[in-house]
Amino acid sequence: MVAIGQSSLIHPVMNPTLPDPEEILDDLRGIFKSGRVTIGKHVQALEEEISDWMEVKHAIAMSSGTSGLMLLLHALGLPKGSEVITPSFTFAATAHALLWNGLRPVFCDSEPRTFTLDAEAAEKLITERTTAIYPVCIFGVPGDMDAYQKLADNYDLALIFDSAQGLGSRFKGKAVGSFGNGEVFSMSPTKVVTAMEGGLVTTNDDILAHQLRQMRDYGKAPDGEDMLWRGLSARMTEVNALIARWSFARLDKWIANRCAIMSLYQERLSQYPGVSFQYIPPECVSSRNYVVILLDPAICRINRDTLYDWLKTRSVQTKRYFYPALHNQTLYKRLEPETLSRLPVSERIASQSLALPMYSHMELAEVDVICNYIDECFFQAGVILE
Ligand SMILES: Cc1ncc(COP(=O)(O)O)c(C=O)c1O
Repeated sequence: MVAIGQSSLIHPVMNPTLPDPEEILDDLRGIFKSGRVTIGKHVQALEEEISDWMEVKHAIAMSSGTSGLMLLLHALGLPKGSEVITPSFTFAATAHALLWNGLRPVFCDSEPRTFTLDAEAAEKLITERTTAIYPVCIFGVPGDMDAYQKLADNYDLALIFDSAQGLGSRFKGKAVGSFGNGEVFSMSPTKVVTAMEGGLVTTNDDILAHQLRQMRDYGKAPDGEDMLWRGLSARMTEVNALIARWSFARLDKWIANRCAIMSLYQERLSQYPGVSFQYIPPECVSSRNYVVILLDPAICRINRDTLYDWLKTRSVQTKRYFYPALHNQTLYKRLEPETLSRLPVSERIASQSLALPMYSHMELAEVDVICNYIDECFFQAGVILE
């Protein structure tokens, strides 16, 4: 049984899908009694279950996606001050992890339909200072993994993925998690597979995996005394791993429900001129972490912000996501002023995108209610469907 998260919002944009506490009580007792509350048997089982499913050699559980990104970038040993090409249309944690490592984000534009890193645009940004390409799985849609790998091979660059939103996604049949030098996942409350809070780094590189296991525990040597690396305190607790195992075991069910939700939104909303959905190419499976629409103000009678406000007054929470694009956030504007206005696609998507409510245990009736409110907004603007 799934305990429905009781958000205080009437229609929350997300709502973590968690087990009924009764269902996991015995396991919780076991953890409490064991005296081993962090990196114990549930963490190990979670790592094995996910790495088997992804067909990747190693999965290393972390306290969050952000700590995983920080540690993976650090473990790769990229020279300080070197340039890493990453999208501007992403969540801030992608680029924050570069800053924490003294690396320079070079923001790149995105594909207009999939919203993922544009590989051709990325190639034009490569200089002698570039050391890595760092694409992001956007709302569950992986980018052109073949093109990214080709760039990395041709220019001898590291390739790491922020796949925080991509647990469950695939590219040409292969699970996201087994690409490049390493990938990082988040299991925060907004993710399809949630640990409540947590993260995961995946890699086929044995040395990197060993280093990451030690780095999440301060950088200790396996003897527990000597310090080998500049690590973090980024271990996953057994309770978080238990929740994540419960959540991961039901991944197919969550994605199937999200597909049904997205189809209903599409059926109800794509009839409106100027409303479009993120494109999922046939070679990709999306985890469907978010359902995001674009409202093109040149065609639509209402713009994104009007709809955002309209829904807010009707207790429907939406999210301008990702907005502003990173190169227009105060922190990054200060760091890289020359990027301003060089990323037209990212800016357009960021100004038009709106994430609508979707979570794994959401019922289709709720989608209908939300779409009815959207119909009213269009109606009030004079747009009436036949
Ligand atoms: C694209 C992306 N990167 C990184 C993160 C950070 O993950 P966490 O919140 O687990 O630190 C998130 C979380 O929302 C994300 O969406």
